[in-house]
Amino acid sequence: MNHEDAKPGSMDREGMRPSVSSTPFASPAPRPSTARSEYEWGVNSPSLAGGCSALPGYRLGPVRVSPGLALAPMAGLTDLTFRRVVRRCGHRGLVVSEILSSEGLIRGRLDAEEYLRIAPDEHPIALQLSGADPERMAEAARWCEGEGADVVDINMGCPASKVTKGFCGAALLRDTALAARVAGAVVRAVSLPVTVKMRLGWSESEMTFLEVARALESEGVAGLALHARTRKQGYSGEADWGRVAQLKAAVSIPVVGNGDIRDPAQALSLWRRTGCDGLMVGRAAVKNPWIFRQIEELAMTGSYGQPSFEERSRLILGHFEELIALGPPGLALHRMKTFLGKYTAGMPGAASLRGALGSAKEPGALLEALGEWLRESGAAP
Ligand SMILES: Cc1cc2nc3c(=O)[nH]c(=O)nc-3n(C[C@H](O)[C@H](O)[C@H](O)COP(=O)(O)O)c2cc1C
Repeated sequence: MNHEDAKPGSMDREGMRPSVSSTPFASPAPRPSTARSEYEWGVNSPSLAGGCSALPGYRLGPVRVSPGLALAPMAGLTDLTFRRVVRRCGHRGLVVSEILSSEGLIRGRLDAEEYLRIAPDEHPIALQLSGADPERMAEAARWCEGEGADVVDINMGCPASKVTKGFCGAALLRDTALAARVAGAVVRAVSLPVTVKMRLGWSESEMTFLEVARALESEGVAGLALHARTRKQGYSGEADWGRVAQLKAAVSIPVVGNGDIRDPAQALSLWRRTGCDGLMVGRAAVKNPWIFRQIEELAMTGSYGQPSFEERSRLILGHFEELIALGPPGLALHRMKTFLGKYTAGMPGAASLRGALGSAKEPGALLEALGEWLRESGAAP
């Protein structure tokens, strides 16, 4: 595919709000069995091959997540454009939006049109809400349902003090009764399945995840994702996967394991060691949006391919074109710089490219210079 063939969002009839094309990139997401043309088959781990029944998936009410893989919610990263990037790279499971403050949405501090927008090719998708007021959370959940979400997810894991000081995010793990009231209000407000993403607790001495999880299950929550660290740990230390197995044994609803999956082999290792129903990948997916396809391939065949330099280049250009098309320009430029660093890590000559483009003031100029660099590297026409 020539990147110039890409069809990023175009302006709608009123010319006010960029609309989202159902085909952001020219070709549909490849599937593991047919995706080999641009793949280099390098990694081989026959001992990890699990046959076709590997990663069978799980059910959230009427929503089937199959295979059982999910893109983790990440503020500033899992916007519509990046969620479509992972779809383009062959991800077939669930995608989750970045955290959306229920208060911010209802009071208009967050542009609901921008943050709740869902493209036709994103499903199944969960929109993630934060908040500690049951009624406001219920109202925001109804907005998510109205925008076409398949699942509403509640954040009970965010460690940031600007979130926890309002008893939101991980602070809800310190008050099981409030966590249950919030979840119950959301469950009753919508006809969609409601999930919760949580941590282990506030700190080593306050490991409340099992108690909170049982209370959430009683309120009708359809599934849980566990980032196996405490709030106090932030992102330090190691995720404790043994806790994922503990949670799986404690509840009957699907449990998704999360934390420190860096490559496909680690993903399968977490799955096999804990018996969890699904796997959620965050940071590794930003560096390598093909990771979901690779996990599937590894589970089915014992090996997986790597994208070529050309494939990676086209992906970056297509993503940035869509960021520009959906705007606004300041946000597009900010996100392009964020993703450029992650996407080009390890590419030959990328450090000087990032240095040169870091000072770009306008997204179109950055895209042009990037295209030029890729052409000179022989990666783009
Ligand atoms: C930049 C960044 C933003 C994040 N934003 C959110 C968020 O909005 N909601 C949430 O539940 N978790 C958020 N997380 C946590 C991730 O979803 C995930 O639980 C964590 O990164 C561990 O998974 P990983 O090791 O696969 O990255 C964020 C993590 C990062 C690195």
